Amino acid sequence: MRAQGVAIFDSGVGGLTVFKEIRRALPAERLVYFGDTARLPYGSKSREAVTRFCLEIARFLLKHDIKMLIVACNSASALALSALEDALDIPVLGVIGPAVRAAAVATKSGTIGVIGTEATINSRAYEDALAALNGALKTAVKACPLLVPLVEEGWWAHPVTERVAQAYLRPLKKTGMDTLILGCTHYPLIKAVIQKAAGGRRVRLIDSGEEMAREARAWLKVNAMERRTGKGSQEFFVSDAPDRFKRLARRFLGAGVDRVTLAAVEA
Ligand code: DGL
Repeated sequence: MRAQGVAIFDSGVGGLTVFKEIRRALPAERLVYFGDTARLPYGSKSREAVTRFCLEIARFLLKHDIKMLIVACNSASALALSALEDALDIPVLGVIGPAVRAAAVATKSGTIGVIGTEATINSRAYEDALAALNGALKTAVKACPLLVPLVEEGWWAHPVTERVAQAYLRPLKKTGMDTLILGCTHYPLIKAVIQKAAGGRRVRLIDSGEEMAREARAWLKVNAMERRTGKGSQEFFVSDAPDRFKRLARRFLGAGVDRVTLAAVEA
């Protein structure tokens, strides 16, 4: 019998940074990935649109016999997590909670920076989650919309990306932050550039993919739903341009993916 899967979805290819961490943490699981490449970016869209897309994707993924849904996309986690939780009767995990919990533990100064897309930052989801966790924490946020296309272009150590990151992070450096949440799927790929622009090693970077993988594994274990033996597998679906996804996946994962299936998810 086929094992029940763990589904991971994102607006596109960026969620592969989260997928990679989950693959590492849960090697025996059947993973099902969906990238909404026909409708990305989510980071500049409204709550209404992103919520509708997410519910359609969830309906599609539920047909694939899954036991958990992981929202790898920060913008989708910021805008649509509660709608997904209300609509589904399987556990739904978003990337904001794990990152916020890790940041709250890591900070000594009490000031946490958050960078992400416009949709993520404007939603105030990170600020609200940090305030709910500890009212004494200070948050400094900055939307960095140019970083997503630069990462997709492969300009990971490029002087233009360095300049852009420096310009975005300059105001945050003045806030006394000692911890910075990478609140977007693409940012782990330019960690070195962000680290330098944020002021060097004295700032601790929080990678939401790593934190998500840790919490997903803990959740499955505590609920006795973890698959611990056997060989894991992976399936990839996208709503457009599977060849481009395949090409970028090689870079994002550091390994090729065999098959990417085009899937229609509209209601
Ligand atoms: N995956 C998105 C996020 O993490 C970035 C790309 C987009 O805007 O769709 O917010």
